[in-house]
Amino acid sequence: MRIRKKKWAENEIANSNLIINENFNNDWKNYFGNENKICLELGCGKGKFINEMAQKFPGKNFIAVEKYFHIIAMGVRRANNSLKNLAFIIDDISHIEKYFPKTKVSCIYINFCDPWHKKRHYKRRLTYKDFLDVYKKILMPGAPIYFKTDNLPLFEFTLNQFSDNNWKLKNITFDLHKTNLDNVTTEYEEKFSNAGMPIYYCQAILSNDNLN
Ligand SMILES: C[S@@+](CC[C@H](N)C(=O)[O-])C[C@H]1O[C@@H](n2cnc3c(N)ncnc32)[C@H](O)[C@@H]1O
Repeated sequence: MRIRKKKWAENEIANSNLIINENFNNDWKNYFGNENKICLELGCGKGKFINEMAQKFPGKNFIAVEKYFHIIAMGVRRANNSLKNLAFIIDDISHIEKYFPKTKVSCIYINFCDPWHKKRHYKRRLTYKDFLDVYKKILMPGAPIYFKTDNLPLFEFTLNQFSDNNWKLKNITFDLHKTNLDNVTTEYEEKFSNAGMPIYYCQAILSNDNLN
């Protein structure tokens, strides 16, 4: 069963023109055919969010990053080769900088990343300061990170990491779905929200005084 599942995913990816492969020259203007703003989702899972965002905002470009090909394959299938403003990178987020040697992105979405709840694993959390330092290098000045989670300890950790590293926090909420903030849901978000759990959310802005 498992082997058939992998085969399906391999075929999906092989037949897609939305996958960034290892020969990509990082020329995003050429890839998208325009210089529209680029938004990045880190750990996109099955790709509901990024597909809906790409459809909702055709004047922006979207790139989704996910390390497991059999998971991202579902997002690729959903896109059906038909979205001109969408690309998928199959790689670990720790390598993201290499795809943006010149081009900067205008926002980053981190949705329901793994909480790594054991204390000794805190450096693996996608909002640990070492990751923030990488994001800093690829974000345009003044560009936001949008962060959502169901996990309160991770949310508190994240707020502290942003704050301790001089990112400016905005629109912090402990119940996103009770606000008027514009929101496209993710697979995990639907699951948690349907179970009655609140969604924690914040935006963090890279300010000019922490660019070094
Ligand atoms: C909990 S799921 C959330 C998926 C989706 N964002 C959502 O909200 O439905 C986290 C996803 O991030 C991916 N991921 C975690 N760490 C990653 C890393 N270092 N590089 C790339 N993908 C990663 C996982 O494989 C998984 O698909």
